[in-house]
Amino acid sequence: MDAFEIHGGRRLSGRWRIGGAKNSALPLMAASLLTDEPVVLSDVPNLVDITNMSALLGTLGCHVEHDTQDPDQTLTIEVTDPSQYLAEYDIVRRMRASICVLGPLLARRGRARVSMPGGCNIGDRPVDLHIRGMRALGAEVNLEEGYIVAHATHLRGARVFLGGPFGSTVLGTANVMCAATLAQGTTVIESAACEPEIADLATLLNQMGARVSGAGTPRVVVDGVERLAGTRYTIMPDRIEAGTYIMASAITNGSIELENCPMDALSALLDRLEAIGVDVEPVQSDGQAPVDDRFRQTVRVASKRRLEPVQVVTQPYPGFPTDLQAQIMALLCQADGNSLITEKIFPDRFLHVAELLRMGANLIRLGPSVLISGSRQLSAAPVMASDLRASAGLVLAGLAAQGTTLVNRVYHLDRGYDRMELALQKLGADIQRVDRPAV
Ligand code: EPU
Repeated sequence: MDAFEIHGGRRLSGRWRIGGAKNSALPLMAASLLTDEPVVLSDVPNLVDITNMSALLGTLGCHVEHDTQDPDQTLTIEVTDPSQYLAEYDIVRRMRASICVLGPLLARRGRARVSMPGGCNIGDRPVDLHIRGMRALGAEVNLEEGYIVAHATHLRGARVFLGGPFGSTVLGTANVMCAATLAQGTTVIESAACEPEIADLATLLNQMGARVSGAGTPRVVVDGVERLAGTRYTIMPDRIEAGTYIMASAITNGSIELENCPMDALSALLDRLEAIGVDVEPVQSDGQAPVDDRFRQTVRVASKRRLEPVQVVTQPYPGFPTDLQAQIMALLCQADGNSLITEKIFPDRFLHVAELLRMGANLIRLGPSVLISGSRQLSAAPVMASDLRASAGLVLAGLAAQGTTLVNRVYHLDRGYDRMELALQKLGADIQRVDRPAV
């Protein structure tokens, strides 16, 4: 089983290009079920989750081709058999984002049988808001033998409220938005998720002929249309990959440059980093005019030698992203004083805490909060985490630690980071992918 062997203590420098966003690519791929014409997506990262979504779409009658050798990393999806509507447990259990086929299937094929995703290592992760949304649009939805079974002869536009105890739902908003594009009449989604990946999905849908407005705000309005067409679309850069490498630079007191960095989507992180003493500034790309597009900038990361402690609260966008919580915890282990992190999206998303303790971090968890007493030199240890972002936090800790850290179960990282070891090697880290017995 693959593991990362990291010899810590090297300052990062050099340049890396941020790839397309996994969390945008997955719902955009599912949206291709809404048309019979080909949808061609560019900058689709080569990740296990993308392979899983491709396999799922394959079982749903799509021909999918991902050209990972092409610099544009194009992925083409074309529906060849629209009679399929079953998303089986065997695929859904591997990737929770499989739930995003529910809305498109219902809208285009009038029915869907999608395995209940169940919980995962970061929490319970219910899907009640997805189901509420489909019912509001007029679908009959039942739970049968672990499957969400949904039917609708015609979906009708409606007002749908998607607020839950932890805020809105990102993939729930994607599902309702997709379903509403082909519904009769107007749908108003209140308390919609404002994440940039939702705005990216709306841009794709509008390019396909949909009429979606307000995406990226808490109120999204969708006027239903008769049909959608195929299109070509470049997905947004991955804000979580960018945030992870920015913090990898900071934790090693390095100075790196990142191309294709979605600065506009990183305000909450940049705010906390400024308080910590990490500067992220746009720079001119090699021989090119400065990029005005705040979604695709080249930036330089530089940090002060002494890092300040801060308070971090994860929140729905534009708040601090839960998907960067483990990484900033690793960084704050190096700060000079006490920091506090509170997790308000997934209150149990702390798998990395026990592993960071094994690396000498000084952490106290109290419910959804973790107190971090910084300035301890982390020491290398064999670690593992059964979650993608927790594993990323451990890799960052390994880059800063003295000695050789072995991060086990790298397959979690492969779900969300395209060749992480290559990116970090290019930035000067001493990191290797090695084969180790399963732990
Ligand atoms: N929730 C409900 N009911 C629902 C749906 C969600 O109560 O029907 C709760 C969840 O339990 C959670 C909160 O609402 O407390 C937010 O969950 P959300 O539905 O927004 O999460 P998601 O859409 O399933 C996406 C990302 C996650 C990211 C979260 C939050 C994708 C493929 N996944 O999940 O990304 O953490 O939004 O921002 O877009 C990751 O990339 O590592 C990852 C886990």
